[in-house]
Amino acid sequence: MQNNTFSTLFVGQNLIKLSDVDSTNNYLKLLVSKSEPLPEGTVIMADNQFAGRGQQQSSWQSEPGKNLTFSVYLKPGFLPVQKQFLLNMAVSVALNDALTAFTGLGFKIKWPNDIYFGQQKLGGILIENLLSGSSYKTGIIGIGLNINQVEFSEALKKNAISLSQILHKNVNLIALLAVICSHIESKYLKLRANNYPFLQSDYLKKLFWFNEIGRFSHDGEIFEGVITAVSEQGLLVINRDGLEKAYNFKEVEFLI
Ligand code: BTN
Repeated sequence: MQNNTFSTLFVGQNLIKLSDVDSTNNYLKLLVSKSEPLPEGTVIMADNQFAGRGQQQSSWQSEPGKNLTFSVYLKPGFLPVQKQFLLNMAVSVALNDALTAFTGLGFKIKWPNDIYFGQQKLGGILIENLLSGSSYKTGIIGIGLNINQVEFSEALKKNAISLSQILHKNVNLIALLAVICSHIESKYLKLRANNYPFLQSDYLKKLFWFNEIGRFSHDGEIFEGVITAVSEQGLLVINRDGLEKAYNFKEVEFLI
């Protein structure tokens, strides 16, 4: 166990810093599969990921040494499989709150779990679950946040933003990581204590386009609608011309 100065009970107390790895999620999965038990809350962070992964089989690109790319090991065995989206909610709200605590600014969660500042993406979350029967054995919580990077590839330029672009100064990565770990721990403990309703309402309060008219596309068709809810299973409910419909992850695209 490596020591650090985080004021948490367990999240980030065992912090493993790597200079170069394919993906911190892959590395953590490998550690978990080894026979030696790993303390819950272990965090793997990397200066550089040469095969960082994003949602829906995309890649996660991050300039070496400039950003936060890390994975947190949680054991949400208390959470039934059909409620697993609550862990997404807990981590998204925690990240959002941590960023606000650190900067004093407001951020949004774009469904399901992207972190947005205005119309641009600051970061994302890739949660990978290992199940055991009807409950959840292991949660690998991968988080990528653009922090001190100021140049993005042509493909990302329009949609991506970093904290240093927002604040016009460089940010201390470990200081921010400490705040994030403490918020993740606090939301996770609330989830463990069965405090779901607060979590769902916190998530909705911070949800991008919640109760606003937004433009979406579904099956090649563009439409306007209002997000009215996100179900416990994580489906996005959009009211379109007075009719509510629930969409699964890949079924609907935001036209921002
Ligand atoms: C997204 O597509 O928005 C999710 C991005 C998640 C990226 C993080 S970086 C740390 C961890 N390791 C990975 O390979 N991916 C996640």
